[in-house]
Amino acid sequence: MKKRVPLSTEVLATGLLAAGLIGVNPAAMAACSYKIASDWGSGHIAEITVTNNTSAAVNNWSLNWQFANNRISSIWNAALSGSNPYTATNVGWNGSLQPGQSASFGFQVDKNGGSAEQPTLNGSLCGGAVSSAQSSVISSRAISSSLASSSVRSSSLPATSSSVPRSSTSSIASSRSSAPVSSSSAPANTSITIEENQTGFCAVNGTVDSNNAGFSGAGFANSTNAAGSGVDWKIRVDTAGQYTLRWRYAAISARAADLVVNGNIVSSNIAFPATSAWTTWANSVNVSVYLAAGTHNLRLQATSSEGLANIDNLTLSGASVSAALCDTPNTPISFVTPSFTNIAVHDPSVIFANNQYYAFGSHLSVAKTPDLTNWTRVADGVNQQNKIFNNVNNELSEALSWAQTTTLWAPDVAYVNGRYLMFYNACKGDSPVSAMGIASASNIEGPYSDQGLILRSGMWGQISEDGTVYNAQVHPNAVDPAVFKDNANRLWMIYGSYSGGIFIMQLNATTGFPLAGQGYGKHLMGGNHSVIEGAYVIYSPETNYYYMFVSFGGLDAAGGYNIRVSRSRNPDGPYVDAKGTNMNTVKSNPSLPLFDTASLAPHGVKLLGNHLFSGSNDQLGYVSPGHNSAYRKAATSQYFLMFHTRFPNRGEQHEVRTHEFFFNADGWPVVAPLRYAEKIDANDPSRSRAALEAVAATEIAGTYQLVNHGKDISATIKSSSNIQLASGGGISGALSGSWTFDANSRATTLVLGGVTYRGVISRQWNQVRNRFEVTFSALSADGTAIWGIKSN
Ligand code: GCU
Ligand code: CA
Repeated sequence: MKKRVPLSTEVLATGLLAAGLIGVNPAAMAACSYKIASDWGSGHIAEITVTNNTSAAVNNWSLNWQFANNRISSIWNAALSGSNPYTATNVGWNGSLQPGQSASFGFQVDKNGGSAEQPTLNGSLCGGAVSSAQSSVISSRAISSSLASSSVRSSSLPATSSSVPRSSTSSIASSRSSAPVSSSSAPANTSITIEENQTGFCAVNGTVDSNNAGFSGAGFANSTNAAGSGVDWKIRVDTAGQYTLRWRYAAISARAADLVVNGNIVSSNIAFPATSAWTTWANSVNVSVYLAAGTHNLRLQATSSEGLANIDNLTLSGASVSAALCDTPNTPISFVTPSFTNIAVHDPSVIFANNQYYAFGSHLSVAKTPDLTNWTRVADGVNQQNKIFNNVNNELSEALSWAQTTTLWAPDVAYVNGRYLMFYNACKGDSPVSAMGIASASNIEGPYSDQGLILRSGMWGQISEDGTVYNAQVHPNAVDPAVFKDNANRLWMIYGSYSGGIFIMQLNATTGFPLAGQGYGKHLMGGNHSVIEGAYVIYSPETNYYYMFVSFGGLDAAGGYNIRVSRSRNPDGPYVDAKGTNMNTVKSNPSLPLFDTASLAPHGVKLLGNHLFSGSNDQLGYVSPGHNSAYRKAATSQYFLMFHTRFPNRGEQHEVRTHEFFFNADGWPVVAPLRYAEKIDANDPSRSRAALEAVAATEIAGTYQLVNHGKDISATIKSSSNIQLASGGGISGALSGSWTFDANSRATTLVLGGVTYRGVISRQWNQVRNRFEVTFSALSADGTAIWGIKSN
């Protein structure tokens, strides 16, 4: 769905032709040049030089271009509008160009998964002639340090005062003309004025109006007449120091405001004296603040119920200041409304093949989806009509007859050595009499053919796989396989349910069969008939942990099924929970009645269980969610948790749900509180992921429905309570405390009732309110999850 902009071969040809004809560097002919000043893994810094090669002076200039994948994250020495295509116009001091003079401006680009692009530049001064000049690339070490210092901007300083390698363009300008190149050098002091709806103006709690004349730009920001309402800007300074902020404003009564920089009040109760009329504008309120090098969120926030004065613009002056792109676009992104086609697959195990996500579940139930929201049934039922096998009853007769059953339990399909291997299993059900085997196919949808059994269990009074007599309190039930590759490409299978617990075996990475001599493998968790099953392991290259998900409790609506996680640095454990408990010690107490849950409940990080957000009937809540699988989408590093769940007031009826999950600051998964739906910008389908997922600090304050999943294994459905997150960082309502937010990582820390929870804020689809909503998901140090959905 990416928009493709032809990276013009025509342009290159023109440049080469020109070079051939007159024997000079093509850049020398360019009136607008695009130079990649530095290039590193995920981004580049570019410098555009605009040269007035006409015979008349120019007072203002502007040019535009469009990237295929790249997106601008900050710009200096030019004003930016648009979001691909972009338009750059001069700022106050570099707009006038005498014939032969040039001006340069720079910006930082997020490559957004692509490579550093050199787009075609259009504009009256570009005159159709375009060139790209690649300068010597500075080392990435130099770049990262330059981001926070003035050396980036120094590329637009006169050659003599710069230590950065000079581009050919600045010398070209002077070689074309003997006129002094004054306007290509930055003055010692910069000053920018940000009008509403220009780069750097981010939001107003109110409206942009134009009913009171005398404003400059498109209008003025009229904040709602209430304490706390305000206007937000985002700016960048390249040199730390004292900067002056000045507002042009009008108000018929005196108004007062706090200046909030990056969430902290740095100047309180700034007076905005009355002007004589709403149409009389004053430019007299100044504040001087110290700003470190970098980008800053500025907010002017009303301290009285009258709100702010009408704000026409903000002028900033100091050593080196420029407007920055807001965390979220000035106008909120309008997202395409997602659609959902639900499916029932019990115990869904996800595998991506043929551009579809497939879920393989119990009873040979298979479904697929291209987008994780709209499902199509592929097959269902252990019968001859099921096209996954030519004749499943014949093909898997050995397993079915061993387990004395006509159905199959939760399988897993893995792509191993060019074939799809289905790890199938059959279980008697009332006892762990089970068989597990491998069937293979060249097509994900089959037909699969049996390769033979790999494990059996439940051989009462007989020798089991490990050479000792089968003991169901210690030996596993040979069901619920999940196969994964470790970070050294070794293949493993985790499996087990109730009975002796969860076990892991190493597999032959070519055939998928267990390496010889392992018996049942290594015990990882449970035993004594602990109600633990549905294990699944995923490795995260970002955190370098293996995460083992399992379901605790009984799968039916009254069983309190819930999803827990533990983690390890090794594929085969030991897996520990957030408290550091080795999960291989977590098991039922044989002196308590069978299926004792009290011994299990405190352990493992409980990610989600029974809950219901208020006012949503059965829609925003689950009963007995569990038996999950997980998937990492490598292209975007997104993680998805796929599970089946029952619902409040809907009995045993179940459906598949997929939720995105993130990692908190401690490297633990936190699961988004609402089901996943892809975010697509209705007006710009190629908008960057960063922009689609961004949440601004200013969006967080509000009322949230809060669910605490607790640590219990019970049929109780947790209901939500309301809390209010205030813009200053306080929390009140059902629980009081405080919150912080880092817009770059979307990490949040919430302290609620004295307990600290670390998590991630994300925007998720609320199917009751039919919109994407700010949400949080966070974990305490003992492994309890809280979920919040903004509800105002
Ligand atoms: C009037 C005026 C608005 C102003 C408002 C206020 O309605 O037209 O522009 O914002 O008063 O009191 O704040
Ligand atoms: Ca107002």
